[in-house]
Amino acid sequence: MYRLAFLSFSLFAWALCDIVVIKKQKDKIYSGHVLFEVSMPMWSLCAQFCSRVQLCKSINFIAWNKTCQVNDADPGESKCGLIESTGNSFVAASTFPKQLAGQCKGNDCKRNEACMPRGHDFYCVPLQIILPECSIQLRPRDCSDLPVGSESGVYTIYPTNAIFDVYCDMDIAGFGWTVFQSRMNGATDFYRGWIDYENGFGSLTSEFWLGNNFIHLLTSTGNYKLYIYLEDFEGNSAYAEYFECILGDSATNYRLKVEGYCGTAGDSLKPHNGMMFSTKDKDNDIGQNGCAQLYIGAWWYTGCHSSNLNGENLGGQHSNYANGITWNTWTGQFYSLKSTRMMIKRH
Ligand SMILES: *[C@@H]1O[C@H](CO)[C@@H](O)[C@H](O)[C@H]1NC(C)=O
Repeated sequence: MYRLAFLSFSLFAWALCDIVVIKKQKDKIYSGHVLFEVSMPMWSLCAQFCSRVQLCKSINFIAWNKTCQVNDADPGESKCGLIESTGNSFVAASTFPKQLAGQCKGNDCKRNEACMPRGHDFYCVPLQIILPECSIQLRPRDCSDLPVGSESGVYTIYPTNAIFDVYCDMDIAGFGWTVFQSRMNGATDFYRGWIDYENGFGSLTSEFWLGNNFIHLLTSTGNYKLYIYLEDFEGNSAYAEYFECILGDSATNYRLKVEGYCGTAGDSLKPHNGMMFSTKDKDNDIGQNGCAQLYIGAWWYTGCHSSNLNGENLGGQHSNYANGITWNTWTGQFYSLKSTRMMIKRH
C-alpha cells in the first residue's frame, strides 16, 4: 500500500517536473460544460494540459477510461452543475498553482505544449488532441477561418487533431495568412538544430520559426499557397508567391513542394522544390559539404542554395558569399535582408 502511494506520487512529480500540489474534488465532476475530451494516462497530465489550453476553465478526470474532459467553465462559488460521480475528480483551473503554467526546468513551454522529461533533460512537446467534428466551425483551422475583420496577431488554431498558437497576418497580402517564419530585428538566433526547427522557436510576436511539424500538419490538411515577403534596408520590399506549397512529414525530412511562382522578387525557391530540410546537425542536402553549416542556416538545401532566409542576420551588404538572409534573384548572395515573412493560406 505504501509502495503504491509512493509510486503514484513520484509519477506525479515526474510528469510535472516539480512537485505541485493541486486541490482536486474527488467523486465529483462538473457537468454540462465539456468542450472536448482527450485520453490521458493520469489526471496530473490532464491538469497540465488544461493549463495550456486557452479555453479550459476546469477539468473532469474520468478514472475508469482515463479520459480528460476539458470544460469551458468553472462553477466558482456556486455548487450548481457539480454532480456526484464515484471514482472521478474535478479541478478548477483557477486553483492551479503557478508552476503549471509553463515553467519546466528553465523551459517555457508554449500554451499548447507539455513539459516532458527525456533522459536527464526536459522538452516541451506538442499536445495532440482529438476534437469533435461538430466543433470545427467554431474553431479556426488556420488564420483564414477567423472572423472577417480580425486583426493581425496571435491566435489559437485547431487544425485536424491538434491545437496550437500561430501569428496571423492580415496586412501584408490581405486577410488570413498563417505565418511560419518571421525575421525583423536579429533578436532570435536562427542557427539551430533539427529538433528546434521541427518544434519551432522564437516569439510569435517577433522573430520565429513555427516548426516543420506544424507546417507539415497545416499543409497536409488542405491546399495551401505560400507568400514570401522581403524587405531590404533601403525601404524596398518585394514578394514571391507560390500557388501551391506542401511540406512533407518527418519521414520525408520535411520535403518541400512548391509550384506556380508569381511576384516581384524573382523565383529563388523553385530550385529548392523537392528538397529535404537540412540543419547544422542533420545534413539532407545533395551536396558534399553540409550546406547548413557552410551557409549558417537551415533550409531545403540542394547543393547549396538560391535563397537562405534562415541564414545569419548580417544587416545588409556582406562579404561572405551567401551566408546571410539572402534571396538571390532580388538582392543577390552578398546582401542580408532586413526582414522576411513566410506565410501560407488555404485556397
Ligand atoms: C469515459 O467515460 C465517461 C463517463 O463514463 C464518458 O462520458 C466518456 O465519453 C468516456 N470517454 C471515452 C473516450 O470513452
